[in-house]
Amino acid sequence: MTNGAHIQTIGVSHTYKGGGTRALGQIDLEICPGEALALIGRSGCGKSTLLHILSGLSLPTEGKVLVDGTRITEPSPSRIMMFQAPSLYPWMSVEQNVGLGLRFNGKMNEAGRRIPEVLELVELGDYAKRNVQDLSGGQQQRVALARSLALKPEVLLLDEPLSALDAFTRHALQRDIRRICKDLGITLVLVTHDINEAVMMADRALVMKADPGDIEAEIRIPISGDRLPSMAAFGDARRELVAAYEAAAGMAMAEAQSFIPQDSLNTPTPIDRLAAN
Ligand SMILES: Nc1ncnc2c1ncn2[C@@H]1O[C@H](COP(=O)(O)OP(=O)(O)OP(=O)(O)O)[C@@H](O)[C@H]1O
Ligand SMILES: [Mg+2]
Repeated sequence: MTNGAHIQTIGVSHTYKGGGTRALGQIDLEICPGEALALIGRSGCGKSTLLHILSGLSLPTEGKVLVDGTRITEPSPSRIMMFQAPSLYPWMSVEQNVGLGLRFNGKMNEAGRRIPEVLELVELGDYAKRNVQDLSGGQQQRVALARSLALKPEVLLLDEPLSALDAFTRHALQRDIRRICKDLGITLVLVTHDINEAVMMADRALVMKADPGDIEAEIRIPISGDRLPSMAAFGDARRELVAAYEAAAGMAMAEAQSFIPQDSLNTPTPIDRLAAN
């Protein structure tokens, strides 16, 4: 069991050099160890900027980020970011790709034990010797997840890593990533445009507004155990989030609804069918 990190941002704002874009206003935020938090909002509202600052890849123009009480000034293998592209090396096998983080961090002595362990976690135990080019997009994203988990991160930062996947694969990965992070106690911060994805994965969602990026609303999603879009509590959280999104983005409800994949509005969804089988 990993102990997820406690994250605090104090007066964090960010202005990009050159063009002078004020990407973030003033963000004061606390994320508990092991919590799953979604950042949701329209394109350009500063979600990726905030995620980069939480990782230490960017430093805020003002304010600071504390991780377990210590100010961060650089990236760390204990805070891993995942992006839309799985970024695997096509000439390497699954297990070689999963071992890359360990190799770069001088931990290859752990590879023999860690690689099979994390491949089991992402349900690719039988794929260790396979070439990654022979895997589906969803399986490749699972390899990238295994590579991140091999480093025993305290924080996992996801920047829309599932947005290129089909609805069925996406639902399965949403469920599995949440489950794995909860089992291992990892703090999860997830950027998404998809309201349904936020309800599937997060304990709490922050709705952001743009110009400059700021937190406009906070919605708690207290659904225990695995989540299904057909659950009444799921529908309630989704409606609350759509209303907050509508208010933050200044858009009509119909437009906000378009951020919910259509398949999730009708039951049974792929996830419901998966659970039924
Ligand atoms: N490197 C950069 N230089 C200058 N401005 C930038 C840079 N990166 C982002 N911005 C600007 O900062 C603002 C926030 O960008 P950011 O990428 O954080 O938004 P986002 O919410 O992640 O958007 P999307 O949903 O489209 O990914 C935008 O106005 C963007 O144009
Ligand atoms: Mg972004």
